[in-house]
Amino acid sequence: MKLDGMTAVVTGAASGIGLAIGEALAEAGAHTIFGDIAAEKAETEAQRLRRRNLAADAIALDVTDDRSIADFAEAAMAFENRVDVLVNAAGWGKVQPFVENEPGFWDRIIALNLMGPIKLTRAFLPGMMERRSGKIINVSSDAGRVGSLGETVYSGAKAGAIGFTKGLAREMARYAISVNCVCPGPTDTPLLAAVPEKFRDAFLRAIPMRRFGKPADVAGAVVFFASGHSDYITGQVLSVSGGLTMAG
Ligand SMILES: NC(=O)c1ccc[n+]([C@@H]2O[C@H](COP(=O)([O-])OP(=O)(O)OC[C@H]3O[C@@H](n4cnc5c(N)ncnc54)[C@H](O)[C@@H]3O)[C@@H](O)[C@H]2O)c1
Repeated sequence: MKLDGMTAVVTGAASGIGLAIGEALAEAGAHTIFGDIAAEKAETEAQRLRRRNLAADAIALDVTDDRSIADFAEAAMAFENRVDVLVNAAGWGKVQPFVENEPGFWDRIIALNLMGPIKLTRAFLPGMMERRSGKIINVSSDAGRVGSLGETVYSGAKAGAIGFTKGLAREMARYAISVNCVCPGPTDTPLLAAVPEKFRDAFLRAIPMRRFGKPADVAGAVVFFASGHSDYITGQVLSVSGGLTMAG
């Protein structure tokens, strides 16, 4: 799948799934801009890709900070005066019973996993609407489709990202902008490593393919949604989970 001549932005691109997505988009030919709060790590990864003669740059980004989003969007647009693909991958969660959550924790989960994608999307949409083309891909979670034990508010925020994807897809269809959503199941990243072992063992037993996802598994689905192969697909939710969830 070729993305030559396109510019892509990936949030949360310094680690895990976002990093694999950034790498896969650059390998497909897109000039890929890594946005992450871990700015040094993002720059190190972008440099690694540049050494492979791939087009990659990094810009500091905190998806929970309005000023940072505005600065990031301006700097990202400055490269090619356009962004064709936006991938909202930055996110975070922690396994803990709902009744033990501190209210500040809820705010943080929602700011990162729901408001972040909403605000980044708002920042990059005007250019896409003007050009009447664009691809927006939100990295939600199977937690948002079917719920996840101990990740209750995270599940709500990720479900919000799915509803946002579908509503926006309807609004943007007339501009030939597609908006889709990828829902990873348990995927081998630092985020999963922080989940208690008994939960990880239970996941593994429940996954029909009997392995955790690899970040590259998710990246493959994202490259498809970024490419012309998915031009007639919008508002869709794709689970990348080794068959863990199959309903709707
Ligand atoms: N790993 C899984 O099992 C799994 C499953 C389902 C969904 N997801 C989702 O996939 C996405 C990527 O997760 P991952 O497992 O690769 O996690 P990760 O922790 O490896 O990577 C997340 C990245 O987001 C960045 N980030 C955190 N806060 C940020 C902020 N405020 N602004 C900008 N960047 C920020 C981090 O620095 C990090 O580089 C998340 O949205 C996550 O919810 C992960």
